[in-house]
Amino acid sequence: MPKIINIGIAGATGYAGQELIKLAVRHQGVKLTTAMSSGAAEGNRHLPALSKTWDGEIAPLSIDQLAARTEAVFLALPDGVAAKVGSELITRGVRVFDLSGAFRLREEKLRARWYPDTPNLANTAVYGLTEYSRTELPAARLIACPGCYPTAAILALRPLFEAGLLEGDTIIDAKSGISGAGKKPSERTHFSECHGNVAAYGVFAHRHGAEIEQELGHAVTFTPHLVPLDRGILETIYVRTREGVNETDVAHAFHQAYLDAPFVRLTGDALPEIKNVTQTNFCDIGWKLDANSTRLLLVACLDNLVKGAAGQALQNLNIAFGLDETAGLS
Ligand SMILES: NC(=O)c1ccc[n+]([C@@H]2O[C@H](COP(=O)([O-])OP(=O)(O)OC[C@H]3O[C@@H](n4cnc5c(N)ncnc54)[C@H](OP(=O)(O)O)[C@@H]3O)[C@@H](O)[C@H]2O)c1
Repeated sequence: MPKIINIGIAGATGYAGQELIKLAVRHQGVKLTTAMSSGAAEGNRHLPALSKTWDGEIAPLSIDQLAARTEAVFLALPDGVAAKVGSELITRGVRVFDLSGAFRLREEKLRARWYPDTPNLANTAVYGLTEYSRTELPAARLIACPGCYPTAAILALRPLFEAGLLEGDTIIDAKSGISGAGKKPSERTHFSECHGNVAAYGVFAHRHGAEIEQELGHAVTFTPHLVPLDRGILETIYVRTREGVNETDVAHAFHQAYLDAPFVRLTGDALPEIKNVTQTNFCDIGWKLDANSTRLLLVACLDNLVKGAAGQALQNLNIAFGLDETAGLS
């Protein structure tokens, strides 16, 4: 009988946390022993949306309880809280899969700007974009799961940069459903602001831009937009190829990169759409090369709460613990 891994979820009442619960309960290789929220509300809580899927109780956050009852913990918490909880769990021997940005940026100056509460541990974390971190995950203790926007952007661009096919500017025009901002509404994410509206935000000032640049090693112009959907991200990416690069070169680079990737679907010139990826762990990537110039357009999309958050974190756990990469996800 294969070993069952005892897991915990901190931030289980949030959007990503609830998604983690849904995935964990149908995963044969894990047991959800502990689910926690902020403790701001009195006593234990239930999740009506998950009734008869998971009827467990959500307890106030306790690092002691997490450390005592789990081998691995998913942190679906605000960055500053994840930085503190993650650091403590690591010292107590628990493996941490952090969905926040707390441990993603390796350069101190960037961390100080975007995640000021983050300790230096980012240098010991594995950046868990699964398709590129498979060999590091089995030994990793702290896994910094990528942001939702960066997951789509890096999966679409990295194969082409690595194959040396691109030159010039990279422009990422990204659109996200509102759940990307978490469950607490702000003036920007309030229903009456978002309904019937599309708006750019964070222009030249979004922390995911720094994350994308770190992982690609190239500067990008990253412009996110909020669109009136509850979930899903679509990124239209504008790049130039080097002179002489053709359609076959582009297709070859993608197919080589994702030959063994169960959750990347290459759609070629049938450009991806959000409705094909919602509620799944897939990232769909399509492209079109202008026959008369070096203009290349890429489209990548995923569900921000699954491949962009909970699904990818579980995919990382599967590999970290030697399970089938697709367990609980297909
Ligand atoms: N949403 C996405 O698409 C997405 C994608 C990738 C990564 N992420 C990252 O994943 C993390 C969770 O995101 P989310 O969208 O699920 O957020 P969310 O919906 O706002 O949920 C936040 C969770 O953290 C808990 N929490 C808040 N303050 C806390 C505190 N001081 N101590 C302990 N627990 C606290 C909340 O508990 P209460 O219910 O008690 O308030 C809730 O369970 C964030 O770091 C986010 O950046 C999100």
